[in-house]
Amino acid sequence: MKDKLIIALDVDNLDAARAIIDRLFPLVKIFKIGSQLFTSAGPAAVELAVKKGARVFLDLKFHDIPNTVANAVIASTRLSVFMLNLHVQGGFDMMRQAVSAARDEAKKMNKERPLVLGVTVLTSMGERDLKDLEIRKGVKSQVTYLAKLAKEAGLDGVVASADEAQPIRWTCGDDFIIVTPGIRPAWAQKDDQKRTATPKEAISLGADYIVVGRPVIAAPDPKAAAEEIIKEMTVS
Ligand code: C5P
Repeated sequence: MKDKLIIALDVDNLDAARAIIDRLFPLVKIFKIGSQLFTSAGPAAVELAVKKGARVFLDLKFHDIPNTVANAVIASTRLSVFMLNLHVQGGFDMMRQAVSAARDEAKKMNKERPLVLGVTVLTSMGERDLKDLEIRKGVKSQVTYLAKLAKEAGLDGVVASADEAQPIRWTCGDDFIIVTPGIRPAWAQKDDQKRTATPKEAISLGADYIVVGRPVIAAPDPKAAAEEIIKEMTVS
């Protein structure tokens, strides 16, 4: 169960990232590096985690023309990330070219390619936000629709809230990876995440990995918080 926990390194400098990794590795084996840390510290943040022996989920949510995204995926592959993501709304060609760029670059380097995941609808968005964007589908059907498109384009899985994990599993099958952020253990404080689930709920609804940020990294004792979450995930 513990290998299903991904901790978000949502901090703005290498020292803070190093402190979290040193505290949590090897209890936690996968760390997510997103736009805050990457734009502050750059590829050194990825190298720091990889050198330690940890795996990296590079969460830069690429969304651009296919050629630009493919080149960003090549650069990510060179950094030896384990997973990366892009917005499904970037379109079919963008997704397809991203996967083949990862495959070709990894082959050249003689190593495994990173898993390529699609971002469907951010877990901080609800029905109202979709209406504001004039998207007429409800959140659940929009997420499931985008997940199916991602699968058809060759992506390995999607990032989605626990709420949508079951319809995605039914539509996209057992091999399709579901990564679920918006995780809030019962003891965590309320914040901007709208579509949340507890670690146990997310796993029982079919998530392959859960992403947790603030409930661990902002906890008085991050290691104890991570241990508590792993325990919650394991209890049947
Ligand atoms: O602190 P918290 O647990 O809310 O952190 C969740 C992490 O997952 C953040 O880094 C956020 O950017 C990311 N994320 C998300 N929803 C998505 C994709 C990624 O919350 N759909």
